[in-house]
Amino acid sequence: MTYDITPSGNLHVGIIMDGNGRWATQRGHPRLKGHSQGAETVKEIVEAAPNLGITHLTLFAFSTENWKRSEREVSGLMALFRRYITSQAERLITENVRVRFIGGQNHMEPRVLELMGWLEKETRDNGGLNLTVAINYGGRDEVARAVQKIVAKCQTGELSSAAITEKTISNHLDTAELPDPDLLIRTGGEMRLSNFLAWQNVYAELSFDDRLWPDFTRKDLAAALERFRGRDRRFGAVAAE
Ligand code: FPP
Repeated sequence: MTYDITPSGNLHVGIIMDGNGRWATQRGHPRLKGHSQGAETVKEIVEAAPNLGITHLTLFAFSTENWKRSEREVSGLMALFRRYITSQAERLITENVRVRFIGGQNHMEPRVLELMGWLEKETRDNGGLNLTVAINYGGRDEVARAVQKIVAKCQTGELSSAAITEKTISNHLDTAELPDPDLLIRTGGEMRLSNFLAWQNVYAELSFDDRLWPDFTRKDLAAALERFRGRDRRFGAVAAE
């Protein structure tokens, strides 16, 4: 038996964009300068992704744990997300990118949510790169919200608890429309998943890069994909004979 390197026929890459703060501190800049430089890397990677065969790109931009950062850093990040959406919308639309946002809505500024909803709507019919940005996202929070939706359906009789399968859970996650990630890249040298796509990443290949996110380039992405293509993905089965 042989297995394709990407069973869904898509190529879904998730990225934990770590190292913005260190990048700025090393240069004597405030942390927010690292985030704005990180947004420049986002632009480069989004542009490069389709040419590298990536069909789905999911970026971890703000976690449910990131609210613990200083008020200054949090509001600076929210302003950066607003700026990214307003300045990049036209380009994303013309480049046929479909944008989705995943994560919870609580604590989020209404004006950020409004822009996120607007860009999702504007790009809904685009058939190119599927770009998903995780904001106010935590994998466990996402599973808890999915359970709430499932329980509500059981209470109204729309769903029977005995009929709940893995697929039912996948279908109630924020990522219901997306295939599972094939490759997870984390920059910044740490080797952990930090609550990113906890349910979906179970068979993702992992790639840890010491480079800080603002220094990450399309070449680094291409190199990670090259290593990924050499991996033997068995999904729990034995190697092909
Ligand atoms: C982690 O680095 C990075 C973040 C919490 C924010 C990620 C945000 C961006 C890359 C900005 C733009 C994003 C979009 C989608 C426009 P860190 O601050 O934890 O770095 P450190 O570990 O060096 O402190």
